[in-house]
Amino acid sequence: MKPQDKICYCYGVPLHKLWHFARRQRPRRPSQMSECLGAGTGCGWCIPFLCRIHEQALKSPPDGQVPPPESLVDLTPEEYAERRRGYIETRQPRNKF
Ligand code: FES
Repeated sequence: MKPQDKICYCYGVPLHKLWHFARRQRPRRPSQMSECLGAGTGCGWCIPFLCRIHEQALKSPPDGQVPPPESLVDLTPEEYAERRRGYIETRQPRNKF
């Protein structure tokens, strides 16, 4: 997925906002990713991705402009949207931090 692609559909939060939030704020726990525009506090679909973004961002140096790695979410936006649709429709247990 590209930096401008949405990760949290419930709150319309794109990858680049989450990535830069995590690099700047250095949240101690993955659940603190929700402080970025409420990401993860809706349906919960994006929580595993927020955890991945959090983990990778904290491994990157906090200074300078470092874009999110291409491989961070290894799905096309269409695949991502389709999987979320399946998550919603099948009423799976809500993802948790
Ligand atoms: S997609 Fe992020 S909480 Fe629903």
